[in-house]
Amino acid sequence: MVQNSSLLPSRPKLILAAGLILLSVLIAALALTTLKPAQMGSGTALIGGPFTMMNDKGETVTEKTYAGKYMLLFFGFTNCGDVCPTELQVMAAAFTEMGALSDNITPIFVTVDPERDTPKIMADYIKNFHPRLVGLTGTPEQIAAFAKIYHIYYQKVPDPKNPADYEMDHSSILYLMGPDGKFIKHFPYTTDAKGLAEALKKVLQP
Ligand code: NI
Repeated sequence: MVQNSSLLPSRPKLILAAGLILLSVLIAALALTTLKPAQMGSGTALIGGPFTMMNDKGETVTEKTYAGKYMLLFFGFTNCGDVCPTELQVMAAAFTEMGALSDNITPIFVTVDPERDTPKIMADYIKNFHPRLVGLTGTPEQIAAFAKIYHIYYQKVPDPKNPADYEMDHSSILYLMGPDGKFIKHFPYTTDAKGLAEALKKVLQP
């Protein structure tokens, strides 16, 4: 009897808790089903958009700065040991392969490491790859906003051997944007220079 009476008051609480869990599951399910068709419907429109960043000369730039030409974007950081330099070399080799046609594309390297990648450091780095390569940096907030509209993941990873040092984990995708600023296609990191050149030619000279 004693046990029973002490259990009773908690039962409505349990029912309430179960009800709340069920309700939040339903809300989450509803949110998913309403979001999905919207994402699919507008699809490519969700990649890219207005931005404010700083170029490697320290000038403020926006999406309007690069309008009228295709943009080939790659995200990374100058201290990257392998992926970034390799991809920028692939980009440059593809441009060489394309010849004058590549003049219609602005190659852009966007840093996800604003703490270290100042405009000066970006300028010194990009000149190793292509004379027309543009480096973009900005405040941590500007870079976060830019990475968000391009669905780029990045994360600081402290160096276990030297806690003062860190790497940046980041998505390695090339984005081709149209002269109107709209997303055209993306290329995985595994695309080689020849494949990239062929794919870009198909878009620029269909
Ligand atoms: Ni990298």
